[in-house]
Amino acid sequence: MRILIVGNGAREDALSWKLAQSPSCEAVFAAPGNAGTASRGVNWNIPQIDGKAILQQCIAHAIDLVVLGPETAIAAGVGDRLRDAGIAVFGPNRSGGRLESSKIFAKRFMARHGVPTAPFQIIHSLEAGEKVLDEWTSPGVVIKADGLAAGKGVVVCDDVDAARAVLREWFEQKAIPGGGTDVLLEERLHGREVSVFALCDGRAMIPIAAACDYKRAGDGDTGPNTGGMGAYSPPVGFPDNLYDRVRETILAPVLRGLLAEGETYVGVLYCGLMWTEAGPYVIEFNARFGDPETQVLMPRVTGDFAALLKSCADGALDVSAASFSPQACVGVVLATAEYPRTSTPLRGLPVDLSLGDGIAAFWGTTQREGAVVNASGGRVLTVTALGEDVAAARARVYEAVSTLARRFGATSLTYRTDIARGLS
Ligand code: AMP
Ligand code: GLY
Repeated sequence: MRILIVGNGAREDALSWKLAQSPSCEAVFAAPGNAGTASRGVNWNIPQIDGKAILQQCIAHAIDLVVLGPETAIAAGVGDRLRDAGIAVFGPNRSGGRLESSKIFAKRFMARHGVPTAPFQIIHSLEAGEKVLDEWTSPGVVIKADGLAAGKGVVVCDDVDAARAVLREWFEQKAIPGGGTDVLLEERLHGREVSVFALCDGRAMIPIAAACDYKRAGDGDTGPNTGGMGAYSPPVGFPDNLYDRVRETILAPVLRGLLAEGETYVGVLYCGLMWTEAGPYVIEFNARFGDPETQVLMPRVTGDFAALLKSCADGALDVSAASFSPQACVGVVLATAEYPRTSTPLRGLPVDLSLGDGIAAFWGTTQREGAVVNASGGRVLTVTALGEDVAAARARVYEAVSTLARRFGATSLTYRTDIARGLS
């Protein structure tokens, strides 16, 4: 198989790394790719949302399978265009992608089909928001902008006064993240967060893996929300029957709903869950693999991952093609100092990320130029390590981060020091 991965972050580097190792994979390509994907395949200099150019190149290079990495490609309809031309695509069409690209669409879908999620109200103006808050009875309020906002569209408020202040800022200053006009107010849930990844071939939906990520910039979950600063898999401290519970309470009604609405959803459904005393509730859906969760899932894959994704894209999901080892994996994201406030470009980084057996480092948005790597800034790298349990993997990954920091010399990158701490 000749496989194209669409996207340019560490998630896509990890996917390309695992796909390239798959017995059924002959060659990997990336659009536009990064320094990592360039090291094992061919990068096409095409934006990830340019479906027309991607299709032309896929035909010219006889691509057998396209894997859509980022939500922007899905929302831009890249999947629809390729599928219409008869190319096998892992990743939903734009309409299925609305489960991620519109939080309001997702909430209404869940309400229609009985998927557990926090009670919510939709507002389009400050006046309407204030009225809703006047009658708010639960202790916390979570405010969400409707569209894609790269992790910046959610504010968790302790009380209605804090919520009022956020709404005033968003509406009065026309500063709703993502640029939309619609806002969700929802009750705050309490529990532990876990992300479950289910594959769907349009007919069946099967959970294949789970992970926990760390969204805040600073240690102890302080500082601003980011795209993700670290992750580990498998999750620790959740019920043994986690998958069965998720299958029954979440995946079954979601699949029934998709089928009832005539939506052939193909790809991964990322279920961001809050595990409450009453069981799992959906916080959000994503229509793609997570970043950095993918970086800790790929090292655990055994078998033919390319065959797994191809079977899914072909509508005949074969979960026996690949599985996840019981080993734990911990990943730490290294970012430029001011992330997520600004992204400072870096030049002249070393190409060599080799760190030993069971350790893999994946490049974020970067370009290979001759003997060096240049980075756009923000999340530059994800370093991962496998171990017998989370504590062992954690010890190894931080050792690897120190080694890499020495190799990077004067280039200083920041990272959280508490990823997967205190779990076992
Ligand atoms: P989202 O972008 O929807 O995943 O939200 C970002 C983060 O906000 C989540 O990872 C949660 O930590 C938090 N969050 C979102 N919705 C809720 C909710 N209803 N209750 C509690 N926390 C929430
Ligand atoms: N790590 C969260 C996400 O990919 O959306």
